[in-house]
Amino acid sequence: MKTLLVTGGCGFIGSNFVRLQLEAHPDQTVVNVDALTYAGNPENLADVADNGRYVFRKGDVTDREFVESVLKETRPEAVVNFAAESHVDRSILDSGPFVRTNVVGTQVLMDACRTVGVGRFLQVSTDEVYGSLGETGLFTEETPLAPNSPYSASKAAADCLVRGYHHTFDFPAVVTRCSNNYGPYQFPEKLIPLFVSNALADKSLPVYGEGTNVRDWIHVLDHCRGIDAALRNGTPGEVYNFGGECEMTNIALTKLLLKLTDKPESLITYVTDRPGHDLRYAIDCSKAKRDLGWEPEVPFETGLAETVAWYRENTEWVDRVKSGEYLKYYEEQYGGR
Ligand code: NAD
Ligand code: TYD
Repeated sequence: MKTLLVTGGCGFIGSNFVRLQLEAHPDQTVVNVDALTYAGNPENLADVADNGRYVFRKGDVTDREFVESVLKETRPEAVVNFAAESHVDRSILDSGPFVRTNVVGTQVLMDACRTVGVGRFLQVSTDEVYGSLGETGLFTEETPLAPNSPYSASKAAADCLVRGYHHTFDFPAVVTRCSNNYGPYQFPEKLIPLFVSNALADKSLPVYGEGTNVRDWIHVLDHCRGIDAALRNGTPGEVYNFGGECEMTNIALTKLLLKLTDKPESLITYVTDRPGHDLRYAIDCSKAKRDLGWEPEVPFETGLAETVAWYRENTEWVDRVKSGEYLKYYEEQYGGR
């Protein structure tokens, strides 16, 4: 592939993916389309800004004219769609931007790709479209969609559109669904970067409910390698699940983060539970292992320790992204706790 276009490349996973693509495919140009919302930070890619194979175009994926003009200008062979509103709690406060970007944005991108003739489209989706598990069992690609939050509902709607476009138009799309990511450059509103940055600042860690909810954690680079494998070797029309095979309750993870930051458990504050809070996510990724030759490589203990070290070393990055718009959101979500 000569040119790959990604959307949302200034966000957490997108920026890790762009960097990995530039390193792993030395003959390939990467075009990054990003609207630079509160979560999109060009600083995440400051180290590649001068790379001659990196092209940035600021704009909104819901803007058909803009999207089509960038596709015509750069002529990518493939598009990977990361652009999204990605935080469940924000979707509970206001679902409008989620429907706009996650649903309409995906439709606009696919229409523009069909018009211009892009050969491959990869939709980056989430295991949250499957809803919640009880104490046992795993999500497979055959698990029925049963989204429980406005965020996951918007992602499931986009997945359904992708399916419809593949079925109706033979649109060459692949969908990937991954569990909870962690790693460097994650916006400090999600559990791990929020708790690490709060702990380092001796602020309380707001655990929802009793902290018994379970998530399956995967290092962001393992997710990015999976997307790359699905992009190049996946079959159009297929869905591939990725997970870290690393389940943990929120409270166990919180205590581990306090150990890694050398902070006392007295920083833990139990706060009102998230409405509709999914109990447990856990992924069966045997299809990706079998069909894509992929598997998660980063051991959780190593990846988490490195991530905590990254946040320790990058307190200025955290301070800068925590300023402005984010502070208003924090006040609304946690009421100053
Ligand atoms: P993020 O919130 O860190 O980044 C989203 C990026 O999209 C930002 O750079 C933002 O500026 C950009 N964006 C938002 N609206 C846009 C628009 N209308 N037009 C153009 N750009 C826009 O998100 P993330 O955590 O990196 O997630 C990336 C993708 O991966 C999302 O689709 C998300 O649903 C999916 N995903 C995330 C996780 C996770 O654990 N974070 C797990 C599975 C799947
Ligand atoms: P989050 O990182 O928001 O990811 P998701 O909701 O997409 O899984 O949350 C991970 C888990 O941590 C989830 O069970 C909610 C919980 N949580 C808290 O207990 N406190 C918090 O302040 C946040 C942001 C999340």
